[in-house]
Amino acid sequence: EKVVLAYSGGLDTSVCIGWIAEQTGAEVIAVAVDVGQGGEDLEEIRKRALACGAVEAEVADARDEFAEEYCVPALKANALYQDRYPLVSSLSRPTIVKHLAAAAKKHGATTVAHGCTGKGNDQVRFEVGIASLAPELKCIAPVRDYGMTRDKAIAFAEVNGLPIETTKKNPYSIDQNLWGKAVETGFLEDIWNGPIEDLYSYTQDPAAAREPDEVVITFTKGVPTAIDGKPVTPLEAILEMNRRAGAQGVGRIDMVEDRLVGIKSREVYEAPGAIALIVAHQELENVTVERELARFKRTVDQRWGELVYDGLWFSPLKRALDGFIDEANEHVSGDIRMTLHGGRAVVTGRRSGESLYDFNLATYDTGDVFDQSLAKGFIELFGLPSKIAAKRDLGK
Ligand code: ARG
Ligand code: SIN
Repeated sequence: EKVVLAYSGGLDTSVCIGWIAEQTGAEVIAVAVDVGQGGEDLEEIRKRALACGAVEAEVADARDEFAEEYCVPALKANALYQDRYPLVSSLSRPTIVKHLAAAAKKHGATTVAHGCTGKGNDQVRFEVGIASLAPELKCIAPVRDYGMTRDKAIAFAEVNGLPIETTKKNPYSIDQNLWGKAVETGFLEDIWNGPIEDLYSYTQDPAAAREPDEVVITFTKGVPTAIDGKPVTPLEAILEMNRRAGAQGVGRIDMVEDRLVGIKSREVYEAPGAIALIVAHQELENVTVERELARFKRTVDQRWGELVYDGLWFSPLKRALDGFIDEANEHVSGDIRMTLHGGRAVVTGRRSGESLYDFNLATYDTGDVFDQSLAKGFIELFGLPSKIAAKRDLGK
């Protein structure tokens, strides 16, 4: 029997390799997916998996795929769970799932394994994702299912001489990728404790003195295609905006959120590129999307974010909403100028060949073509239901 393990190269998933082999007697194939988490070389990670007992190890550079097929749809949906969290981890899980399912098929594995606990969202995203792409596969989670606690993992690594650092005690649970970084646990579990500067690595202190940075982002049908006039791929756009917005302290988020499993949890996020791109994209929608479509899209965007947060990336409803969101982005093309400074991304200009903004309708100066006399009758009819109801209710 063969098990495909979602491998990160860290302590927990390194121990998972031997732990799964011991518990199930199966051969373990490690699969590491680069979604822009930075840090180590993929080849080092591959070698470590083999050194930890994997029969095979595969690594995939999925950075362009993650940017184009996961981050871009989130941008088109202005996706912010609970109006704040840009879905960093929620987007990477389905990317990883796709690679796990493909590897399982290739190697004839019956089971997929991941290193999540039984208390979080990520287990749901992995397992519902696998159920959607390869319903014949089983899922196991050694931390949750086979009692692989942190202390036992460290002991296992030491007893078996695994080539992995067990002494460096990081009190935080960190997950990061191109779209941002999530930090939880440790002293943050007391929700009165403020975050410390040490937690942050994507952003500089927003309060530090520095010159503002002005940037022009060009979108084509909702996709960022140029920065300051220079053509970019989605991956390049995200990397560039992470760098520039991060340097200005944009995109720090400290919040308590509702997990799918019912727990409220404290999270500290940084997502400088994601936040700056969403602010810009949203404003370009304001200029180019017709009012009724724009109003309806806000509720679709919110629902889309909840589905993705809840692990339903590959679900029929999510797929159908993608169709709507793509259609709504058909005319979202043009330039947004913004100033990045003091932790904020502030739009200062918009320009679009698809603009619905009509100067001659909007102006209060000469050139006004809006017939104000029509407003009187419009308001009379628009207010008629309120007036009729008031006549009935105010008398009582
Ligand atoms: N709470 C966030 C989410 O559910 C972040 C999860 C981060 N994962 C982790 N292993 N630290 O999307
Ligand atoms: C975990 O519990 O494994 C990580 C946190 C989460 O999934 O939300």
